[in-house]
Amino acid sequence: MKANRIGKMVFPETMTRRDFVKYSSSAAVGLWSMANLSSCSFLKPSLVKEGYRACIHQNGILSVPGLKASQIFESSTINGIQFKNRIIRSGTVLGLGDKAGRPTPDSIAKHVALAQGGVGAIITEGIAVRHDGIHIGINPLWFDDDEDIADYQNLTAAVHEHNTSIIMQVFHAGRQTRSLVTGAPTIAPSAIRDGFYVEDMPKELTEIGIETVIENFVSAIERARKAQFDGVQLMAGHGYLLSEFLSPSMNRREDRWGGSTENRFRIIREIYTKARQRVGTFPILIKMNAYDFQNDGMRLDESIRIAGLLEEVGCDAIEISCGVMEDGFATIRIPELLTGPISEYSFRLRDKPFIIKEMMASMLPLVVTLHEPIYNYNVCAAGEIKKHVRIPVIVVGGIRDMEDIQRIIAFNMADYVAMSRPFLIEPDIVNSFKEGQQPASECVSCGMCMFCLDQMPVECHRDLL
Ligand SMILES: Cc1cc2nc3c(=O)[nH]c(=O)nc-3n(C[C@H](O)[C@H](O)[C@H](O)COP(=O)(O)O)c2cc1C
Ligand code: SF4
Repeated sequence: MKANRIGKMVFPETMTRRDFVKYSSSAAVGLWSMANLSSCSFLKPSLVKEGYRACIHQNGILSVPGLKASQIFESSTINGIQFKNRIIRSGTVLGLGDKAGRPTPDSIAKHVALAQGGVGAIITEGIAVRHDGIHIGINPLWFDDDEDIADYQNLTAAVHEHNTSIIMQVFHAGRQTRSLVTGAPTIAPSAIRDGFYVEDMPKELTEIGIETVIENFVSAIERARKAQFDGVQLMAGHGYLLSEFLSPSMNRREDRWGGSTENRFRIIREIYTKARQRVGTFPILIKMNAYDFQNDGMRLDESIRIAGLLEEVGCDAIEISCGVMEDGFATIRIPELLTGPISEYSFRLRDKPFIIKEMMASMLPLVVTLHEPIYNYNVCAAGEIKKHVRIPVIVVGGIRDMEDIQRIIAFNMADYVAMSRPFLIEPDIVNSFKEGQQPASECVSCGMCMFCLDQMPVECHRDLL
């Protein structure tokens, strides 16, 4: 009999994860959970063993032949963007925008610290193309007005002073935000409620709505060029708007924007086509999921096809990631489910009455899947995609160790690596790697920086554990 897995528990095929979440909120399961199920070792996800470096080690890649560390630090270009080395800062929310969504002096200072720390190039946080697309973090950035070009230019100029490239991530949160935060209804390709952002039923975009979104993306790309960003990266991963169009589990449309791979890809094709007419060869990269853990979700065979389509439309490089918010901790893997801090900081739990909060927290291990491994988890997928395209491939996800970086590049599994959390704890990690001062990041992947992001600026908050 086929089965679905939720954490360590296996259910008949007819019971989906969504059903389980529904049933588990029933009174019976609620009472059951009050008996502190999280202490039951059978139900607890197993901890990841220290030193586990899948998939590099699974493939027997234990040595680092043929590639010296120094080669990681050689410069290169992607369509004119200068990369000081092969280690990129992946898009990361900082929570340092002003009231109008523009970067503040503190935000600029954080980017300058990264540039001084030797990073190959910086990809900004997801900067919304319009206000209803902001993420839930405090002080988000959005860039929907030419009036703001000068403010963004202050950011790019400050980073360029340190001889470092900066790429703007163009973003719309789609259904993965809260109307309480944006002040507008959430939108999505289909009216399917998100399993994490459960408050809002998203409005299905109309044909005109989709054309408007395309125009918003293209205008944001034009603004980015005027503000002297070195390029842009379309955010088409992690379950945000463009990723929702790509994935069959979130896009159930029956018109030309849904159904076949080509139809689900159409919104991205249109953005590229229209942007090319307006910004010429200005670099346009993309971040996308190679896979997620949804029923009918994104799978590697389809992401390989999408990578081929991206190459066809003139994409300059693909950053490979995975997962959507509903998957639990798939994108940002953590070794242990910290029910205390999560109930204290997550908007889903923190304002609930004490007893409900405790009850829900004790149920978390039942409904939230911890995915393994926690290191280098997108490397195999990136390696497969790389076999099918000629454009550069960047891989992100649990990369922490200089020798792993050498292996990834030496064995042609990606052209560049990207990291997010390590740069929060060590903005100068690339210089430290280069000077041989440390072999690996000190980031323990606990996830605290993420849990607090709608309450305080994003930093390493490991001290709150
Ligand atoms: C606090 C936080 C904020 C993030 N913000 C973004 C973002 O704005 N855009 C994006 O593409 N990814 C974002 N991510 C995901 C990271 O770019 C990256 O894909 C993920 O954290 C896995 O990489 P890591 O193990 O190096 O952290 C964020 C991650 C964290 C922890
Ligand atoms: S809080 Fe610090 S140690 Fe924990 S994941 Fe974030 S950066 Fe890493």
